[in-house]
Amino acid sequence: MKLLVTGGAGFIGSNFVYYMVNKYPNYHIINLDALTYAGNLENLLEVEHKPNYTFIKGDISDAQNVDGIFRNGVDIVVNFAAESHVDRSILEPGIFVQTNVMGTQVLLDAARKYNVKKYVQISTDEVYGTLGDTGMFTETTPLAPNSPYSASKTGGDLLVRAYHETFGMNVNITRCSNNYGPYHFPEKLIPLMISNALNDKQLPVYGDGLNIRDWLYVEDHCSAIDLVIHKGISGEVYNVGGNNERKNIQIVETILEALDKPKSLITYVADRPGHDRRYAIDATKIRNELGWQPKYNFETGIQKTIAWYLEHKDWWTRIQSGAYQEYYEKQYGGRLGD
Ligand SMILES: NC(=O)c1ccc[n+]([C@@H]2O[C@H](COP(=O)([O-])OP(=O)(O)OC[C@H]3O[C@@H](n4cnc5c(N)ncnc54)[C@H](O)[C@@H]3O)[C@@H](O)[C@H]2O)c1
Repeated sequence: MKLLVTGGAGFIGSNFVYYMVNKYPNYHIINLDALTYAGNLENLLEVEHKPNYTFIKGDISDAQNVDGIFRNGVDIVVNFAAESHVDRSILEPGIFVQTNVMGTQVLLDAARKYNVKKYVQISTDEVYGTLGDTGMFTETTPLAPNSPYSASKTGGDLLVRAYHETFGMNVNITRCSNNYGPYHFPEKLIPLMISNALNDKQLPVYGDGLNIRDWLYVEDHCSAIDLVIHKGISGEVYNVGGNNERKNIQIVETILEALDKPKSLITYVADRPGHDRRYAIDATKIRNELGWQPKYNFETGIQKTIAWYLEHKDWWTRIQSGAYQEYYEKQYGGRLGD
């Protein structure tokens, strides 16, 4: 079985590559990644010499390059490749449409042309928009994206749906809540707070800090995708989430407590425009129909994550240089006190 993983040098993609390379030694895993700022081959050091793993640098929206890869044989596609950071989508929406919409279309065309057995689109709960104090997103919740990021992910999802309806392709879409765990790029909430706390830097918290996200340890997301690849019913959407709703400020306080750092490091900054208030995923369908069960709850997952960042200081300090620092200044610099 030849499995094409796109975006496998990013956070979830690299965790998924490890998961699949180790679990299925008989599968060949091809990782196609453009190595944008978020792609980091240092995430994959422990698999790069495995015989069932190949890395190819390339853009999913480059039709010629993608065609060449499919021509050599691909059985399954799992598309993680995306521009994924909401704040960046507010600064530069065009690249989000290019990768998340156009790139998806290029992959779908190639998958169709070469009769790929299964195409899985890794989407997000953000396509559903925002929730009030109650309720949860189900697979039938209307799509109502609020950021250029989530709008571009919605565009990708709709193309996947249309290729199933129009061409009968065997596709699935997964919509997962917020992931956390190893190899999470340090611009995102949890690794940013851990690394800032360890450096005794201010911890920038948007707005009142009461926005709620539903957190899932990344390995549990990988096991869900594995099930969808092998058991997903063609054309179906599966929500993935572990019922771990937490306010952003609770996450920050948990991290400070675990690292024995003072709450005085917390600095509230102007809220993100269009900031969704609450996400919560109802994952009943994947639990009941595919038998998925997460292994970690938030308490066990966050302690494992903090321990990983303590052990891998080299990994994140190397990222926190160059372009990343410039971006950090642009995003938070003007809003922080001294
Ligand atoms: N992080 C989350 O909490 C979360 C939750 C639900 C769904 N998702 C989805 O999961 C996927 C992966 O998210 P992530 O957090 O690992 O993202 P990430 O930003 O860490 O990784 C994205 C990867 O895609 C690559 N990439 C970007 N543009 C590309 C292109 N044009 N061609 C080829 N490769 C390209 C990057 O180099 C990077 O390696 C995304 O599709 C995202 O929408 C993420």
